[in-house]
This record gives sequence, structure tokens and C-alpha cells, in this order.
Amino acid sequence: MSQSSSSATIKFAYWVPNVSGGLVVSTIPQRTDWSLEYNQKLAQTAEKAGFDYALSQIRFTAGYGAEHQHESVSFSQAILHATTKLKVLAAILPGPWHPAVVAKQLATIDHISNGRIAINVVSGWFKGEFQALGEPWLEHDERYRRSNEFIRVLKGIWTQDKFTFKGDFYRINDYTLSPKPLQKPHPEIFQGGSSRAARDNAASVSDWYFTNGNTPEGIKAQIDDIQAKARENGHKVRIGVNAFIIARDTEEEAKAVLDDIIKHAHVEAVHAFGDAVKQAGKASPEGEGNWAKSTFEDLVQYNDGFRTNLIGTPQQIAERIVHLKSIGVDLILAGFLHFIEEVEYFGRKVLPLVRELEAQRAAATSADTSADTREAEAATSAA
Ligand SMILES: Cc1cc2nc3c(=O)[nH]c(=O)nc-3n(C[C@H](O)[C@H](O)[C@H](O)COP(=O)(O)O)c2cc1C
Repeated sequence: MSQSSSSATIKFAYWVPNVSGGLVVSTIPQRTDWSLEYNQKLAQTAEKAGFDYALSQIRFTAGYGAEHQHESVSFSQAILHATTKLKVLAAILPGPWHPAVVAKQLATIDHISNGRIAINVVSGWFKGEFQALGEPWLEHDERYRRSNEFIRVLKGIWTQDKFTFKGDFYRINDYTLSPKPLQKPHPEIFQGGSSRAARDNAASVSDWYFTNGNTPEGIKAQIDDIQAKARENGHKVRIGVNAFIIARDTEEEAKAVLDDIIKHAHVEAVHAFGDAVKQAGKASPEGEGNWAKSTFEDLVQYNDGFRTNLIGTPQQIAERIVHLKSIGVDLILAGFLHFIEEVEYFGRKVLPLVRELEAQRAAATSADTSADTREAEAATSAA
């Protein structure tokens, strides 16, 4: 069954480059920078360009082309200070973080930012990072069981007084958080993956499900599966898809940039990253983890963003985005090579076309609906 998006207009997020090396594992020269100064300017550019969200990344240690990493919660706050409309997603790893600490921290940030903080609950793929911190590395599906409890605790603390929880991973005793977050019922909760466990989590507790880049057919299969489960659970979840966007005036230019990124791939780092993520997903019993089918070229972008194929002219990209929306995608999570310049170009050249196409489709749908209604009325009066 085809699934239409639940939002009137598709939303846009961008990856915050708070980790060095940009969003590709490639030695191609990039003007993207991981500094605060660059990121604040980028956030202001993105907000002006029409982006709704910025997604920070959580990384504790170097590896796979990412030498330096700013911490996600503190960095998100700095971005919020520099903006007025953008929502910022702080990424959190259950394990190092306790959900009550996060609930408290984010409630305060929600007040300071006037209701603009959200959270991405990351279940973890980087075993070396957990080992470095002396944190136990749980099996794949156990990591999701922990994330599930983590999210239920967050929601409980954010919405209830005297909240009590007795889980396998977390225990909360009669806890009352004050002040509660400004956003009601609570700040939005995002969560990513592709595996069965990730989908089931999204279909039961998360507000948003993020997934790696993929073909429209692959994305649609995931969405249909998740939304069917969510309906069974009486739960509402929205879908965000990763894409590495290369928009240029001609298709040839855009494709040449992609070729160049892949030609300059940091081969050793790509292989090491591929080994780590495939290993992390191995324990996922059905073998459908995020990177289960990724090729070498796919892995040059951390989250398979080339596969979504938002690479071409503004018109081609806008049409593909609107198609993704028609199969149930609510948000595009975008990565770019030279972030500031390309976010600005996207806002100027691509986004207005997306809005135009969305308006045309909405008008065509309402014309179809009126024609159907008239036909039905005519049939009734003839009977
Ligand atoms: C959009 C998106 C953002 C993610 N951000 C992070 C992150 O910042 N840090 C991290 O360690 N993992 C991150 N992950 C990894 C996921 O939390 C999860 O570990 C991974 O997708 C495993 O997927 P699987 O369950 O399909 O194997 C992200 C995943 C997605 C799809």
C-alpha cells in the first residue's frame, strides 16, 4: 500500500559537522569545518535557507577519518544560542548517559532555547568507543532493548510527577522533574537504524525514525513495514531519510563531484569503518542492519547517503524529494561537501522547487477529490 507523508510539507534537517573530516571518508578538499565559528555561521545560513532541524553527532573517540569531535549536547546548545528558529537535535548514547541526567539537561536547554531542543537516541555501532570508556558492549538487540527503556524513562520523567520505573537497565524511584520541558508533551525523540530491532523500537516508542540512505524502493519497504507495526501499536511515528546532496547547475557537474569524492576515498579508513559497522550489525538476527548491504562506494559516506541519489540539477533533486514524500518520507536529512555554500544554494535553488511541486501535487489531489465527490453525488441523485 502506498503511504503518503503525514506532513503537509516535507521537512529538512542537516548534519552538524561537529566531527572533523566532514560527512565523507575521503581526502577530497572540503571547505566544511568542525569549529564552533563555522558551525554557528552554518546554522544561521541553514535557518535562513529554510532548514527545520540540525542534527549533531555523538562520537567519543577518533577513527575512520574523524580525528576530532565536539560533544553533542554542549555543541547543540552553542548552535541554539546563535539561532532563533532552528531546532537542534542533540545525539545521546545510552550507556555513557543516564536517561534522568539527559531528561534534566534537556529540560533546561528547552527553557533556555525557547523550546528548540530535540534528541537523537543512538544505539551505538562503535565498539572501540565503548571499550575506550570501559562501558559494556551489549549485543545488537540488547542495545535496542536498552534504548527502548531509555526512551520510556525520558518520556516518563518529562511528562509525569513521581515517576517510577523498574526496568532491566534503569530504575527510577518516585522522581519529579521540575521544571518540565517547555515543549508539550515533550521534546521530539528521534532514533536511527534499519534492523528489525531499530524498526520495532521506532514503531513503539520514538517520535521519529531516521534511516540510512537507500533507493526509493528500499525506503518504501521499510516505511510500509514500520507504519504497519506502528498502526498495530496505536503509535504515530514519522520518517527521516539520510541523503548526501550534490546539487549543481548541470547533472554532469554533480556526477563529477560524486566521482571525485569516491576517487579520493580514504581506502583504509573506509574499509575499517565498513568492518566496524558490519560487525556491529552482525548480531542483528535478520541481517538487515543499517550497513548490511553497503558497498565500498556507499561507505565513503557514513550513512549510505549517495544511495538516495539526490545528486543532479535542482529540478531533478526536487522531483526526487517530492517522490520520496509521496512514499511516506517526512524529512530529508542532508549532508553536503562544502556545507555553508551548498546549504545556501539548496535554499535558493532546490527548496523553492520542492515547495512548488508540493503545491502542484496538493492542487491536483484536491481537484481529483472534488471530481470524485461530484461523480458520487451525480450517481446518488441518478439512483
Ligand atoms: C541518521 C542517523 C544518525 C546517527 N547518528 C549517530 C551518532 O551520532 N553516533 C553514533 O554512534 N551512531 C549514530 N547512528 C547509528 C545508530 O544509532 C545505530 O547504531 C545504527 O544505525 C545501527 O543500525 P542497525 O540497528 O540498523 O544495525 C546514527 C544513525 C542514523 C541513521
